[in-house]
Amino acid sequence: MSTTGFSTYVWLFFACCFCCSKAMPTKLNQEATNDRPVIGILTQIVSDEVMKPFGRNYIPSSYVKFIESGGSRVMPIRLTLTSDEYETIFSKINGLLLIGGAVNLETSDFATVAKIFYRLALRANDKGDFFPIWGTCLGMQLLTVLVAGEDLLAKTTAENVALPLNLTTEAASSRMFEGFPNKLMRALTREPLTGNFHHFGLTVKTFQENEKLETFFSLLSTNVAENGVHFVSTIEGKRYPFYGVQWHPEVNRFQWDRKLNFPHSAHAVQLASLLAEFFVNEGRRSLHQFDNPEEEASVLIYNDTPVYAGNFTGYEQIYFF
Ligand SMILES: *[C@@H]1O[C@H](CO)[C@@H](O)[C@H](O)[C@H]1NC(C)=O
Ligand SMILES: *[C@@H]1O[C@H](CO)[C@@H](O)[C@H](O)[C@H]1NC(C)=O
Repeated sequence: MSTTGFSTYVWLFFACCFCCSKAMPTKLNQEATNDRPVIGILTQIVSDEVMKPFGRNYIPSSYVKFIESGGSRVMPIRLTLTSDEYETIFSKINGLLLIGGAVNLETSDFATVAKIFYRLALRANDKGDFFPIWGTCLGMQLLTVLVAGEDLLAKTTAENVALPLNLTTEAASSRMFEGFPNKLMRALTREPLTGNFHHFGLTVKTFQENEKLETFFSLLSTNVAENGVHFVSTIEGKRYPFYGVQWHPEVNRFQWDRKLNFPHSAHAVQLASLLAEFFVNEGRRSLHQFDNPEEEASVLIYNDTPVYAGNFTGYEQIYFF
């Protein structure tokens, strides 16, 4: 932290306001901006046989580009560090992206490390130390497990299908879609702008019946699975800057496999661009920083080289760790 005495004072003042009022954390610390954010991405565990020769952990480049396109840099975060090391990393990065994948949401290393960051983020935000988290697909599912304290997922298959969103009334007053052009919001409910690649999800019924989830998140959109079940497709924290999408905004601009239904229309690209900017703007409100430029440079994903994977996966490029 490198706040001056004065801004520390302002910080505490706002933090106090936050504790005593219902103000959203996003309304806090508006004087603070960090134009050199670093968003952490937790590496995912390789489960696909064809990827195993390359490494145990990976991040598809599309997620990295998604974050970079919003004006942030990316730090890949390994799953083999100690709690103390994660705490140190937390104090230096400005947000966290939990990506898709196929791992156990309670017992995997991915889930265990995500839980450490989730708890640190809860505590930090409570103190007015703004820290956003975004979960995509499995990442969103994991956020719901962390909040509910149990895995409530059910079969909600929507595999390789692009869908419009069934927006709730809360979407209109959400932070995520704030300032989106009306034309895009209309397109979002009518055109297939969101790519779905999942077998499990959270049903709307389960969400609405679970007090912890209902209290924590606003439901911004729903969709209907192949089996007719309505599932939660977009959520945002009411009090915390935590966001979840069951669909994949990163594919709209950065994945091109012809066998997969990736939305590439102008509206699909615009949607993904605005969401990347939105999340990185959230990261700009975090004043965490590295001790020095050398330390920062040594951990950024620029040190790693993605592998061409277009001929054996649905991704064009993948970082392996
Ligand atoms: C959209 O969501 C509403 C509830 O918010 C539900 O009643 C309706 O059936 C849904 N429609 C579709 C097409 O998913
Ligand atoms: C994919 O292409 C690379 C060359 O770019 C090649 O080395 C590799 O063997 C190919 N992999 C498969 C599974 O075909």
